[in-house]
Amino acid sequence: MDIVLGLQWGDEGKGKFIDLISENYDITARFNGGSNAGHSIERNGKRITLKMIPSGIFMKRVQNVIGTGTVLDPVSFKKEILNLQLFDETVQPENNIVISLKAHFVLPTHKLLDIFMEESSDYITIGTTKNGIAQAYSNKILRQNVRVGDMYTPDFENRVKHILARDYKMLAEGSLELPSLEDISNEFFEAVDFLKRFKCTETEIYLNNALAEGKAILAEGSQAAMLDIDHGTYPYVTSSSTTASGASSGLGVSPKKIGEIFGIAKAYCTRVGNGVFPTELFDELGEEIRTKGNEFGSNTGRPRRTGWLDLPALKYAVMINGVTQLVLTKADVLSGLKSVAVCTHYELEDGKMIATSGILPENGKPVLKWMSGWNADFSTMKSPSELPEELIEFLSFLEAELGIPVTYLSTGPGRNEMLKLIRK
Ligand code: GDP
Ligand code: IMO
Ligand code: MG
Repeated sequence: MDIVLGLQWGDEGKGKFIDLISENYDITARFNGGSNAGHSIERNGKRITLKMIPSGIFMKRVQNVIGTGTVLDPVSFKKEILNLQLFDETVQPENNIVISLKAHFVLPTHKLLDIFMEESSDYITIGTTKNGIAQAYSNKILRQNVRVGDMYTPDFENRVKHILARDYKMLAEGSLELPSLEDISNEFFEAVDFLKRFKCTETEIYLNNALAEGKAILAEGSQAAMLDIDHGTYPYVTSSSTTASGASSGLGVSPKKIGEIFGIAKAYCTRVGNGVFPTELFDELGEEIRTKGNEFGSNTGRPRRTGWLDLPALKYAVMINGVTQLVLTKADVLSGLKSVAVCTHYELEDGKMIATSGILPENGKPVLKWMSGWNADFSTMKSPSELPEELIEFLSFLEAELGIPVTYLSTGPGRNEMLKLIRK
């Protein structure tokens, strides 16, 4: 099993890369997160953003697993499937999606509680996507939640109704304007009925049997290393395990079965939501990168914060994931700049230099290395031999610092805008 992971704060271009390489696999499998993800894919000049559906969905022979480590919102999933069918009527999601019986449900009140907590001054404002992700995962850990497999049990409706009523009582004490309990409840159960059209099974067995038959699996990470619940910039993180070990536990596939680990990073950094971001650019250049890179959340439309590439954080992400190949995206966005910077260290107040860190000290000063910028028309580029010298130097610098090869360079949002690099 190979894995694709984001190495920064999400939105590195995972969806595009997975759509492209999924032709080499029999199965793609989401192992974490839920509808907080937004994985954009461009096909035939049109663009779709997948939230819960794995990014191999456009390959007819690929099966797409929604694994045990995910949290599934049936209401959002139903909308997503209907939208997918409008986008491409040849896709047959009912034949190509397999859902874990052990994946946890996101309930309507989880989403309302997420909004409530984000808006209340009694809680830290994380800047979440308001999809109820933390609420579903926290109820899972509390052992109070319902799972996909529960929808086949006779007391499912009563159990859910009990939870909704209990949560609703709590919500009613706040100032949030609430939809009626009956409406959200009806919408949820209708969506659960829709979900029953899909194959729901013990995906651990499905995946391990597939491996035993020699099939190739690609695990699809959502979010990214610096948003990991354990290793990211807590508390400004998501609530799941976004790393390679999360793929193993989220899918029930042994770490021994892991092969290539593709880590995806942009040539700069972005972050949407709150939290430390040492290399953030607050000037016109930051705005220019946002505009040129179309850095607006695929899921929420929020403007993404932009900044220089953060090597201490990237080294940390490569280390904890055991990344074997780096996929670099969006170097085209920096094209035309006279010089580009990379943060190589953080300098602390006492003069200490930090070269690798997942903590990203708030008061650490980023030490920038300036390199010559590149200028090229990436839209017409067909071969790595056409890459500008300055960009090759940038790639070589990253390879030397990170100790792994850059094997793919994405040169634009389009499906075919990807160069496979064979470099020494
Ligand atoms: P994901 O969450 O990691 O799948 O990434 P998103 O889809 O949320 O965000 C990545 C955005 O960058 C999308 O709008 C992609 O279409 C776009 N994109 C991906 N790779 C490139 C690239 O190399 N260059 C440019 N300019 N855009 C890219
Ligand atoms: P993909 O898979 C970027 C961020 C939110 C917020 C924090 C917690 O498209 O890369 P949550 O809703 O998960 O409780 O929000 O995590 N976040 C993402 N940022 N890309 C994502 O997914 C994200 N999923 C969550 O903005 O800061
Ligand atoms: Mg995204």
